[in-house]
Amino acid sequence: MTDSISYDILIIGSGIAGLRAAISAVSVDSKLRIAVISKVQVMRSHSVSAEGGTAAVIFEEEGDNQESHIYDTIKGSDFLADQDVAEKLVRSMPFEIYQLDHWGMPWSRRKESGRIDQRWFGGYSFPRATYAQDKVGFFEMQTLYDTCLKHDNIHFYNEWFCTSILTGDGNHSGKNSNNNFRGVTAIEMKSGNFFKIKAPAGIICTGGAGRIYSFSTYAYSSTPDGLDMAYRAGLALKDMEFVQFHPTGILPSGILITEGARGEGGYLINNQGERFMKKYAPKSLELASRDVVSRAMMKEIEEGRGFKHETGVHCLKIDLTHLGAERIRERLGGIREIGIKFSGIDIINEPIEIRPVCHYMMGGIHTNIDGATEMKGLWAAGEAACNSTHGANRLGANSTGECLVWGKITGELAAHYALNHKSDSLEISEHQVLEEEKRIYDGIFRGNGQINPYEARKELTDTMDAKAHVFRNEKDLAEGLKKVREIKVSTWKHVDDHAREYNTNFINVMELDSMIRTAEVVLIGALNRHETRGAHAMKEYPKRDDINFLKHTLAYYTASGISADRDNINNEDGSKMGWFPVTFTRYTPVERHY
Ligand code: FUM
Repeated sequence: MTDSISYDILIIGSGIAGLRAAISAVSVDSKLRIAVISKVQVMRSHSVSAEGGTAAVIFEEEGDNQESHIYDTIKGSDFLADQDVAEKLVRSMPFEIYQLDHWGMPWSRRKESGRIDQRWFGGYSFPRATYAQDKVGFFEMQTLYDTCLKHDNIHFYNEWFCTSILTGDGNHSGKNSNNNFRGVTAIEMKSGNFFKIKAPAGIICTGGAGRIYSFSTYAYSSTPDGLDMAYRAGLALKDMEFVQFHPTGILPSGILITEGARGEGGYLINNQGERFMKKYAPKSLELASRDVVSRAMMKEIEEGRGFKHETGVHCLKIDLTHLGAERIRERLGGIREIGIKFSGIDIINEPIEIRPVCHYMMGGIHTNIDGATEMKGLWAAGEAACNSTHGANRLGANSTGECLVWGKITGELAAHYALNHKSDSLEISEHQVLEEEKRIYDGIFRGNGQINPYEARKELTDTMDAKAHVFRNEKDLAEGLKKVREIKVSTWKHVDDHAREYNTNFINVMELDSMIRTAEVVLIGALNRHETRGAHAMKEYPKRDDINFLKHTLAYYTASGISADRDNINNEDGSKMGWFPVTFTRYTPVERHY
C-alpha cells in the first residue's frame, strides 16, 4: 500500500518561481499547509546559477519607462510574445525588485547615491538589469529561502522525485471529467519509498529542459521531468522548438559567461581580432538580442573566422581585458573565478574562448496569462511554464523576473483555490497510483535492456547538439528525430543498481525517459515551423513568415500512436500537434533591427 501525505498546496520545484510561490501562498492565509517538493536540495536548484541580472524599470526619472521595456521584450520575442503577458511582466517587476530588497537581497548599489544599480543587457533600450555582482540567482534564492524559513507551514521535501500527476473528478456528483489536480506520486530518494502526495492545488516550477543538449549552461539535474509529467497527464507543451542559445558558454564545459560581461563593455572577437558584431548589428553590437548574436557567431565560425579550442571545437573569444582588474573583480568576480577554474584563463589578463550554448527554453507547459494550465487546480510558473512572455526569443534578465512575477501570481491563485477546495484532495482513484507504480517499478526499475543508459543519454544530447542547434535544416532535424526515436525504442531501460536508497542509477533512467519525449517534441515542433523566427533559424526558410506562422505551437502526448494535424510530418508515435493564437494589444510586427 502506497504511503499517503496530504497538503493544501503542492509546489513542485524549489527554484526562484517555487520559493516565490510558497511565500505568496502563505501570505494569502498563514494556515495553509504548503509542500515544496524538489529532486534536489533547495540551494542546488538551477536558479542559483543565474548570473547577470533581473530586468525592471526603476529609473523613470533618468529616462527609462515601462512602455520601452514592454516593446523591447516583444521585439526581442520576434513578435511571438503574447503582448498582454509581456506587459504584465513589466508592470509587475519594479515591485518585485523592491520586495526582494526588503527581504534582504544584497543588490549592487551606486557608490554616489547608494541606490540600487542597473547594467546593460542585450536587446534593451536602457540599462535595466538589476544585479548583485554576477551572482544574481544565488542571492535571490538565498533571500527567498530565508523568507520561506520564517514560515512553519512551508515544508520542504528535498530530494523527492515526482513521477506523475494524480487527477480526479471536479465535483462530488462525478459529472466532470478527470481533469482536476489531486496531487502527485513521488519517490523519496533517501529511502526509495513511493508516495502519493495529495492536495487540491499544485504549481509546477521545475525549470527548463536544457539538459537535452550536451553543451549546455544548465545543471545536470535540469532534466524535463516536470514538463514530461504534465505532458503525460494530457497537458500541452507550447513553443518547444524555441531553444535559446546564449552567445557565451565557456569551453569545454558550457558554463555561462554572463551577458553582464558584454553589458559591462566586453567585446566579441574573431580570429582576425575583429569586433565582428558591427557587421550584424551596427547599432547594438554585442548587445543585440541573443538570437541575433548567436547566429552572427555561428556564421563567423562557419566562414572560418573562429578559433580552434584545444578540444578541437571551433569558437570565438570575449575580451574583457580593457575593463580593468578593479571593475572585473567588483562586478564580474564570479565569472573570473569560473574562467580560472574551468578554462584556466584569467579574464583580467586575456580573452576567453566561448561559443553559443543551450541556455533556456522559451517553450514549456501551456498556460494562460495567470499561469493556469489546462487542468483545474494546477498552475505552472517560471521556465517550466510557457505563458508566452518570451515568444520566440527571450531577452536576458527577463527570466528571473518571470519566475518572481508568476511565482507570486500562481501562489496567490493556488492559495485561494485551495481554500475553496480543501476536501477535494481526498478523492484519488487507487487505480492511477497502481498504474504509475507499475510503470516505474515493473517497467523502468526492472528494465534489463542491453544498452547502457548513460551512453544513451549522451547519444541523445549529442544528437540535439548536432541536429537542432542555432541554424537548423529539415534534413538534420529529420535525422535527429529518427535518431531520438531509435533511442526511444532501443533497450536503454537498464537499471544495474537495485538498491532502494539513493539509487542515482535508477533516477538517471527516469530522467532519460523524460528527456527522450521532450527532445521529440522540440524536433517535431522545429520541423513543423517553416520559417525563421527568433531562436528558430531554418536554412530553407530564412525569413519570418507572419502570414502562416505568427502563432504558437502546441504538442499533446498520445501514447497510442497518432495522426498529425499537418500533412508533412510523421508524428506516428508520441505527439499530436496544433496551433494557438498569439495575443496582440498594440504592437504591430515589424522587421527587427539592432
Ligand atoms: O547572461 C546571463 O547572465 C543570463 C541571464 C539570463 O539568462 O537571464
